[in-house]
Amino acid sequence: MPRRRKRDIIIKGFSKLLKEDKLKIVAELMDNSVEAIDLMKSFWHPDKHKQRIFDEFSENTISNFYIPYGVSPNVSINGKMYLVPMVIEESSVVAAASSGAKWWLNHGGFHAEVIDVTKIGQLHFSWKGDVKKLRKVWDELTRNFRTATAHITENMEKRGGGITGFELLDLTDKIENYYQIRVSFNTKDSMGANFINSCLEEFGQTLKTFLNIHPSFNKEEKEVTIIMAILSNYTPGCLVRSWVECDIEELNGLDDELTGEQFAEKFKTAVEIAEVDPYRATTHNKGIFNGVDAVAIATGNDFRAIEAAGHTYASKDGQYKSLSHVEIKDGRFKFYLELPLAVGTVGGLTSLHPLARQSMELLGKPTAEELMMIAATMGLANNFSAVRSLVTKGIQRGHMKMHLMNILNHFQATDQEKELAVEYFSDKVVSFASVSNFLQETRSS
Ligand code: MEV
Repeated sequence: MPRRRKRDIIIKGFSKLLKEDKLKIVAELMDNSVEAIDLMKSFWHPDKHKQRIFDEFSENTISNFYIPYGVSPNVSINGKMYLVPMVIEESSVVAAASSGAKWWLNHGGFHAEVIDVTKIGQLHFSWKGDVKKLRKVWDELTRNFRTATAHITENMEKRGGGITGFELLDLTDKIENYYQIRVSFNTKDSMGANFINSCLEEFGQTLKTFLNIHPSFNKEEKEVTIIMAILSNYTPGCLVRSWVECDIEELNGLDDELTGEQFAEKFKTAVEIAEVDPYRATTHNKGIFNGVDAVAIATGNDFRAIEAAGHTYASKDGQYKSLSHVEIKDGRFKFYLELPLAVGTVGGLTSLHPLARQSMELLGKPTAEELMMIAATMGLANNFSAVRSLVTKGIQRGHMKMHLMNILNHFQATDQEKELAVEYFSDKVVSFASVSNFLQETRSS
């Protein structure tokens, strides 16, 4: 008989247990359960009310997982200065954003514009009817949709948003009997997921009743199966553009070995590689999302939704490509980024999470459109700094400096040891082994 491992257990009713009891069960699976409980509890918030807020965001919570909250100063967007909060665990990202922001501050700053703010919801259904008949009564049906959701849309309409259009898609050539009603929404300053999903579920019920009682439809056509009703996280109609531009001459001095013109050309080639090679494009866009996600998390926005939309958008021409592009024309260098960014500045986590609320205040209580521009700009700032390092001195030098701190912390180095290490490694290669050796030698002497 194979020996059962400690973790091979089925736990019944876990979600109903008290937090302390859940923690005990988890800790018992650890080598040292007393230490495990202490560690988990040491990350609980000392203020019970605040801790409760965090516990209620999610389920089965037993502790909090900290991620550093940094700020990137001197970010000029359309002439307005921002100090941008960034929540990210990866070293060098905030430094890269800040150095990009600082350089462009003296070269015209960042520019940004929102192209559109349309979000999409989908009602997917199976129906064995005559689509021509449905198209004939389409206006009547959409009027019914609006009436049925008036109680949901009333407030949104007061804020200038609401449902902006309906479209019936016949997709029976792809899946037998499959139709879709694609609905567009403007959710103003809210991310709008709950609003959109509530409307869509109501449309499902309305469609069922409508087909059932409308005299145009025969017995078979009165039957419809609602497959699902859900927003789409692909938001190509909720689009923002951010860009920087300067005379090529201004790029002189960005690197010791390259002239401004050489730098611009090398930078452009690096971006073009990400336009033709999906392997490079993925890393290139990852660098963009370093900045975008850090702002999304700091402001309580759904970074998974943002990333999913961004990557789909990057594939819109049939191949996964860079989200940013370079133009060199008439002695000018222009670097720009265009991506879908569905964010909110009211409702949801943006107002519940105390630090997200604080981030909004730090940003001057932006509208959703303004936050789209800020997040995109931080993506561009990170992308600029990453590609700048890659085409000049490489990223490891800067990266390793930050990484050094992580390794030193791993070995629980004292402040004095850290100071000595920073000096020692200023002209040496940082690696886990080299830092470990350095500490051993320092400690034994
Ligand atoms: C690392 O987090 C991001 C980079 O790899 C991005 C890039 O290669 O452009 C530096």
